[in-house]
Amino acid sequence: MANFVFFLKNVLVVSLAMNMGLIWKIRHDNEETLAYKWSSWGNIQQKLHFHGFCFNGEKNNRVEKDAHGSKTTPILATTSSSAAPSVADGGESPVIINLDHGDPTMYENFWKQKGEETTVVTSSWQHISYFSDIKNVCWFLEPGLMSAIKRLHKVVGNAVTEGRHIVVGTGSSQLYQAALYALSPHNASGPMNVVSAAPFYSSYPLMTDYLKSGLHKWAGDANVFNKQEPYIELVTSPNNPDGFTRQDVVKGDKGILVHDLAYYWPQYTPILSPADYDIMLFTVSKSTGHAGSRIGWALVKDREIAKKMTTFIEINTIGVSKDSQNRAAKILQAISDSCDHANQTDAETFFDYSYKLMAQRWKEIREAVNKTELFSLPNFPLETCSFSGRTFGQLPAFAWLKCEGEVDDCESFLRRHKILTRGGKHFGASMNYVRISMLSRENEFKLLTQRLPAITC
Ligand SMILES: Cc1ncc(COP(=O)(O)O)c(C=O)c1O
Repeated sequence: MANFVFFLKNVLVVSLAMNMGLIWKIRHDNEETLAYKWSSWGNIQQKLHFHGFCFNGEKNNRVEKDAHGSKTTPILATTSSSAAPSVADGGESPVIINLDHGDPTMYENFWKQKGEETTVVTSSWQHISYFSDIKNVCWFLEPGLMSAIKRLHKVVGNAVTEGRHIVVGTGSSQLYQAALYALSPHNASGPMNVVSAAPFYSSYPLMTDYLKSGLHKWAGDANVFNKQEPYIELVTSPNNPDGFTRQDVVKGDKGILVHDLAYYWPQYTPILSPADYDIMLFTVSKSTGHAGSRIGWALVKDREIAKKMTTFIEINTIGVSKDSQNRAAKILQAISDSCDHANQTDAETFFDYSYKLMAQRWKEIREAVNKTELFSLPNFPLETCSFSGRTFGQLPAFAWLKCEGEVDDCESFLRRHKILTRGGKHFGASMNYVRISMLSRENEFKLLTQRLPAITC
């Protein structure tokens, strides 16, 4: 009997070992298959046209192959940090650096350290209803997000929230469209003009006209708009792409202003006073770097306009993801908490971390550009930030780089050197300029600063 039990035990151990081996093999095979799938997805992605946000199909057909059209060139653009390859530049086939889009992955390392503090766990029974607060003008705004937004603006001192309605959107892109819908008269004889001073954010013309709405139409550069007709002027401050602080420019009395303040945060610009405009747009994409959560908010003075913007989102997407709103609320509250306790702990606040990183990157890109006669960058006046007390010039999320000398298509020129950027024409500006994202992961940024000074022709 004892022998039989001993035999059974041995059989069990052997069978367990075999099963473990099998499980390991399946997992291992799946990882390889997955890795293959990811690389195929990368190829598909390159062929898609995400309205200039990711890759442009045309461009990528060109960049997929190297200059001789034979070998494929590695592209240093990743969808997650774990997938980020550590590739050294140089050699026969330098990697393609994709800095065309403003994907804010540079803050990823900061959030990784936060762990539990900013982790949100949601049970399957939670956030089931469409409704958040039916007494509020924006009935799908989560109360937790509303208080987190108000608190953060107060802590930073970058916007007035008193006497404002908050409308939440799926990114500030949706709020942009909601604002156009709310501000364009629905019984007018023609569409409302929408303008912004060049160089303007390249998505404005696309978002204004892509549905060919009868309500509004893109009317171009606000600097040259002189029609005696009603208009909406987008004032982006600090501006995307060039980083300058802006005021409205149209000298008319029939205008309505929308202030896009996506970059009015202390890592990009000295905060001078709380912004106090009728309609102000903000987004977590650029403030905290959580572009994937797709959360933006509008601070709106007029109740009727806030109601119409809410109606737009109601018809468009019946509200905004509560999961995303609660995640955003948790992150905004964590930032406010850390700012409030800044003097009591050694932990670096988000705005300290992000300011230092932006300042370091701008120092490095200026050094790189100063080593060559081929390029130049804008200079910014020094001002004192009321939030941090630091005196500094703008540290924009994008470098508005000019190709000096003979080069008249800077985007194509840099593409030949395997640096993907967005050319000036997308922003209503000269093709001598390109916009380069400063918000990438470290390895892409490092390659950029190594490669720029090495370019000779
Ligand atoms: C000026 C400006 N406004 C709005 C947006 C869009 O933000 P969101 O990701 O919230 O849609 C961007 C994104 O790059 C931007 O630069």
